[in-house]
Amino acid sequence: MVENKEVKPNFKTARARLASLGLSLEDLSKRDLILDIGARDCEIAKAVKASGRDSVVSVDRAFTEEIMISGLRVLKEDARKLSLADAEADLILVGSSAYYYTETEDDTMAILSELNRVLKQGGEQRVYPARFGHIIKELMRERPDFATAKAKPESERTAHDRSVILSCDSIANIRSFDFLDQRGIFAKRREGLERNAQANFKDYLSIDKFNVS
Ligand SMILES: C[S@@+](CC[C@H](N)C(=O)[O-])C[C@H]1O[C@@H](n2cnc3c(N)ncnc32)[C@H](O)[C@@H]1O
Repeated sequence: MVENKEVKPNFKTARARLASLGLSLEDLSKRDLILDIGARDCEIAKAVKASGRDSVVSVDRAFTEEIMISGLRVLKEDARKLSLADAEADLILVGSSAYYYTETEDDTMAILSELNRVLKQGGEQRVYPARFGHIIKELMRERPDFATAKAKPESERTAHDRSVILSCDSIANIRSFDFLDQRGIFAKRREGLERNAQANFKDYLSIDKFNVS
């Protein structure tokens, strides 16, 4: 029989993930319901629970059995279709997950609309890194040198590869922001609290709840 394992938080990981989204653990105590999309090992939920609040619902389409029986509030679902009612969440965190893997504009829009649906009026999505997968892929088709550099393991990248990635990631951030702006979706691009060791930029996107006409 599989047992409900004791849930031990890794505060360092939780704090680092939140920092890239411009948040501290203390900031979360002001929110009633937080969704962590692509939560994987649920470190944010574990840390918040250890501080006495069970306010995080972790979502991931690929949760392990261990997480499913952890006693945490979990949903093994895809961000494109959630079993939550409209306007339930105060804050939605998307750290290196759903948006980063989108293939097409419609795919990015499907996630945006679904997360917006479950967000309360006045709520906010925070997205790190500040770029959408379909825009990165678009740029890779335009710039084969970018695709080649990205495909290499970090240790094999030359100085030229790194500079190509730096400039293309920067373009992808700008285009991702414009993508929202062109659709009338109000967003801010801000700097996280600390630099993520593996990333070129510490920018995240804060996307306000928008009204669908
Ligand atoms: C790189 S991990 C990120 C883990 C953690 N959020 C972090 O900041 O390090 C990406 C996770 O997102 C999940 N994921 C990717 N796309 C998703 C989607 N459309 N819906 C739900 N989960 C998704 C994957 O299953 C994976 O566990």
